[in-house]
Amino acid sequence: MKALSGILLIVAMMFAGICSLGGQQTWIVGMSQCNLGEPWRVQMNADIRKAAAEHPELTVVFKDAQNDTLKQRSHVEEFVSSRVNLLIISPKEAVPLTAPVAEAYRKGIPVIILDRRVLGTEYSTFIGADNTRIGRAAGRWAARRLANKGKVVELKGLMTSTPGQDRHRGFLEGIKGTGLEVVFEADMKWLEPDARREMESALAVHKKIDLVYAHNDPGAHGAYLAARAAGREKEMLFVGIDGLPQEGQIYVRQGILAACFEYPTGGREAVETALRILKGEKPPKEITLRSRVFTPENIKQGGEWLDQPARSK
Ligand code: FRU
Repeated sequence: MKALSGILLIVAMMFAGICSLGGQQTWIVGMSQCNLGEPWRVQMNADIRKAAAEHPELTVVFKDAQNDTLKQRSHVEEFVSSRVNLLIISPKEAVPLTAPVAEAYRKGIPVIILDRRVLGTEYSTFIGADNTRIGRAAGRWAARRLANKGKVVELKGLMTSTPGQDRHRGFLEGIKGTGLEVVFEADMKWLEPDARREMESALAVHKKIDLVYAHNDPGAHGAYLAARAAGREKEMLFVGIDGLPQEGQIYVRQGILAACFEYPTGGREAVETALRILKGEKPPKEITLRSRVFTPENIKQGGEWLDQPARSK
């Protein structure tokens, strides 16, 4: 498989080199995806593919690290040694991917970091929504909805990834000074089966749970399934993040989620930014995407925007 993707990359590089599209310059972009296990990541790749299809001068080569940090490190190294013109990466974890990304950047390959961050500033541009803001909005929404009082289960995303850290911090800020109390928290690593298992433990220990805040929609759905299996799903509200039309938004329409917060994939923006960089422009270091909240009350109107994000720096 590895050999095959290497060959494909070489063929793509040769193709781009030979075909100059009637004199127009062509580029190869390497896209390192941390996994394709969740619908959200499949959507990110689809968004990239769709946006790139509008630009025949751009060829995107995808690699899927299958949720394996070491594999993702070697994917970055492979892209660097085959001299792609630009690298897009959605890293699994911040710390272990920082060095290979910095190395690529130092070798003159522009790097766009998408969704999860690395440490430091050795990359061209970061693109993603503001996870602390989303977490804070979720906390405030929960406090309002529960009239400032209640017991909360928090199912966290992988805490070695920055969205997990930020969604946690934001939520605590959002419920600060209210009577909401997090009575159970666990790292479900963004995975629905893990969320379901953790929720079974929460249900066994806590006779009263008012709300489950899960850091993504698969997590919220896993929690819902656990509660339903215990016959307790009507006792509590479920809140998730991602808000894909084919996932979270459907759960809201079905009454499974009381709210879900949109986390845009940034795929289109990554392609647009890649083109700007390849054409010699210098986009902002940080591009912050907007987010909406979907509830049964507002879903027909397309949700409600969270307050305007801070402007791109
Ligand atoms: C998919 C995912 C999304 C989540 C994002 C955070 O792997 O877990 O559900 O919003 O990653 O990086």
